[in-house]
Amino acid sequence: MKVRIAIGADHGGFVLKQPIIDCLKERNIEVLDFGTFDDQESVDYPDYVEKVCSAIIRKDADKGILLCGTGIGVSIAANKFPGIRAALCTNPEMGRLSGEHNNANVIALGGRIIDPNTAVETVQAWLDTPFDDSENSRHQRRVEKINRLDKLYSSINQSKETGGCQYMQRVFEFDHPLIQHKISLLRDKNTGTKEFRELVSEVAMLMAYEVTRDLPLKEVDVETPVGIAHAKVISGKKLGLVPILRAGLGMVDGMLKLLPMAKVGHIGLYRDPETLEPVEYYCKLPSDAAERDMVVLDPMLATGGSASAAIRFLKNRGITNIKLVCLIAARTGVERINRDHPDVDIYCAAVDEELNDHAYIVPGLGDAGDRLFGTK
Ligand code: RB5
Repeated sequence: MKVRIAIGADHGGFVLKQPIIDCLKERNIEVLDFGTFDDQESVDYPDYVEKVCSAIIRKDADKGILLCGTGIGVSIAANKFPGIRAALCTNPEMGRLSGEHNNANVIALGGRIIDPNTAVETVQAWLDTPFDDSENSRHQRRVEKINRLDKLYSSINQSKETGGCQYMQRVFEFDHPLIQHKISLLRDKNTGTKEFRELVSEVAMLMAYEVTRDLPLKEVDVETPVGIAHAKVISGKKLGLVPILRAGLGMVDGMLKLLPMAKVGHIGLYRDPETLEPVEYYCKLPSDAAERDMVVLDPMLATGGSASAAIRFLKNRGITNIKLVCLIAARTGVERINRDHPDVDIYCAAVDEELNDHAYIVPGLGDAGDRLFGTK
C-alpha cells in the first residue's frame, strides 16, 4: 500500500510546501495537502496542525509534514495531539536522527529558517531512516516512555479547587464504553448483590488491560505451523495485587483473570477513634513484594486517607512501584494521593466531585463493601 503523508503550512512555511510535495510524489507517496494554498494571507498555523494531526489520528495518513515560519509553532501545537511525535528539524542530520531515535511521525520545518533544498533533503533523510526498534534498543525504551506519558497526561483532570495549576493530577480515567456502561449499572441502587459483584469483577478485568499497558516486552522467535514469527512476550515483570480490605477484595478475581501469575497481598486498616489516623490491623504480602510492581485495589477513593496510608505502609516495606486502581474516585481523594504520593498513578472509571458529611462519594455508588457482600 502507498505511504500517505499529510502536509500543512501557514504563510510562513508555504515556500517549502510545493518543493516537498514534488519530492514526495516522485517517491510515489500519496500526499494529502491541507493548505494553505498561497502566502498572501496571514493564517493561523494551529488550524493546519489540527488538520494534519487529526488525519494521522484518524489513520487517513501515516505521517505528517508541518511548515511555518520557524517550525516552532507547528511543532509545539502538533505535540499536543495524542500519539503525535513531532520533530522540529533544521538539517538532514536532524531529519535522520528524528527517525532513528525518536520515531517521529511528524516533521516540522521553518520556511524562514531553511531553504527549500535543505527542507527536501531533511524530509528525505527522515523518510529514509527507520526507527531503531531492535531488541533492548535504548531508543525503543525511551519512545515507550514518551508514549506512556502521552497516555497518562492526556487524561489529566485539573483540579477545580486549585484552579488547575498547583499540581498535576496523575489520573487515568477509563473512557472505554464497556467500562462506562458497567459503572452506570454499578451506580444504580437497584442493582442487586449478585450482579454488583459480577460487574465489579468484570470492570476490574477490563481495567487490568490498561493498567498493564507499560509492561516491558522482549522479542522471541516462535515457531508457527508455517514458519518463524518474530514475536514479543512480557519480559519477566513481576506483579502483585493488594486489595484494601474489605471492598478491594471484589476487584481481585477480575484482575487475576488477566494476570494469573500475579501474587496477592492483603492490607486491612481501621481508623483510630481518638487520633482518627488509619492504623494497619492486617498486612500479609508476597515475600518478594519489594521486587514487584504492586497494584493497590480500592473501589472507592473518597477522602484518600486509607489508600494513602496503605500506600505508605507498602513503601515502608520497600515497595517502590505502586499503582492505585479504583472504580470511582472523589476529587478530594485524587488530590490527597497526588499530594502524599506524587509517584503513584491513579486509575479509575470516573472522578466524582463531591463527598457528603459521612465521606461517601456523591453521587458515587454507595458503600462498595456493603453492596459487594450484602451486609446492608
Ligand atoms: C507567523 O508569522 C509565524 O509566527 C509562524 O509561521 C511560525 O513561525 C510560528 O512559530
